Order: sequence, then structure tokens, then C-alpha cells
Amino acid sequence: MIERLVVASKNPDKVAEMEAVLVASGVVGEIVRGLGWPDVEETETTLQGNALLKATAVEMATGLPAVADDTGLEVVALGGAPGVCTARYAGPDATYADNVAKLLRELEGAADRSARFVTAIALARPGLAPIVVEGSIEGLIALERRGEGGFGYDPVFEVEGRTFAEWGAARKNTMSHRARAINAMVEALRRLAG
Ligand code: IMP
Repeated sequence: MIERLVVASKNPDKVAEMEAVLVASGVVGEIVRGLGWPDVEETETTLQGNALLKATAVEMATGLPAVADDTGLEVVALGGAPGVCTARYAGPDATYADNVAKLLRELEGAADRSARFVTAIALARPGLAPIVVEGSIEGLIALERRGEGGFGYDPVFEVEGRTFAEWGAARKNTMSHRARAINAMVEALRRLAG
């Protein structure tokens, strides 16, 4: 069991999502909030590499075990793009709307609209080997935006006929790439303890 864990994210929703699963499953005692760390540039070429980079930097800055995640959308017709560049697909200052617009443009006329979301989560612990896990979900890129909820690519990422924005946060969070990656981390920590 990890007594105290830092989640290397400035997004309170992400911290809460990790906390809910990791603490409830008994592999983590508590999530420590309110600590600072320097910004970490995502300079690696893979999701796993970037997650590990962030987790290690925050573990070194805080002296506590730290988890970090990195997510990418991999579109088959685009050869796996935007992948590691998902957040800045339409440029360094791109908004969610810019990224979605570019994706729909690039896929105009594409016969194959299949895609998957992948989340890598890394855990860095002082003096111990890091752990890196992944979670993913297969879907399709819709022809146009649908649904009011969610963020990012949610309005165009379709699973079983509905976009993530149409599913709503509660249902989405039981099946998403990030939820699956968090569950994979729980399993990895249980194996370690067992
Ligand atoms: P991050 O690694 O969580 O910052 O995610 C990278 C980018 O992927 C974000 O800027 C979002 O645009 C997109 N993204 C991540 N998770 C989701 C999701 O659950 N739904 C839609 N878009 C997402």
C-alpha cells in the first residue's frame, strides 16, 4: 500500500477521479494535495515516456510517490495520429474546438473512421522501479459533433452508437481509457503487494 501519493496534474477532476479509485480499492492511503512542482515539458515521443517524465519530475520535486498520465487519440486512417500530439493537434495554442475541427477536416471522405483513446499512467516511487500501465477504448470518429457533455474530443468520439459527450460523464468514466488505465494501476499495485 502507498500511504501518501501525489497526482501530478493541475486538473482537479483528474485528481478526484484517480483518488476515487485508488483510495477506495485500498492500494493508496491518501492523495496529498497542495504541493507545488515545476512545469514539466512533454518532450518524449510516446505516451508512456511522457507519463514517466512527469511522474519522475514530481516525485523528485516532492519526495513522495507520484502518478502522472498522458492521453492520446490514435486514428487508423491517419496512421495513428494525432497520438502523442493530441493536445496540440491544430497547433501549440489550439482549443478543443480547433482540434476537433481539424480532425473532422482530415477525415472528410475517409472510409475507415476507427480510432482508439489510449491513456498511459506512470508511477514513480523514491528508490523503487517505476510502474507504467495503459488503458484504451476503441471507437469511431463521428461525422459531426454530437452531445453537450464532456471535453476535448468527446463530441466526436463514438462508442456503441453514442459519442462520449452523449454518454454523460458518469457512464463515460466507467468505460473510458483513463478509467481502464487507473484500474490497470490498481491491479499492478495489488500484484506487487500480493
Ligand atoms: P491529457 O494527456 O489528459 O492532457 O490529454 C491530451 C489531450 O487528449 C487533451 O487535450 C484532450 O483534448 C484529449 N483528451 C484526453 N482525454 C480525453 C477524453 O476523455 N475525452 C476527450 N478528449 C480527451
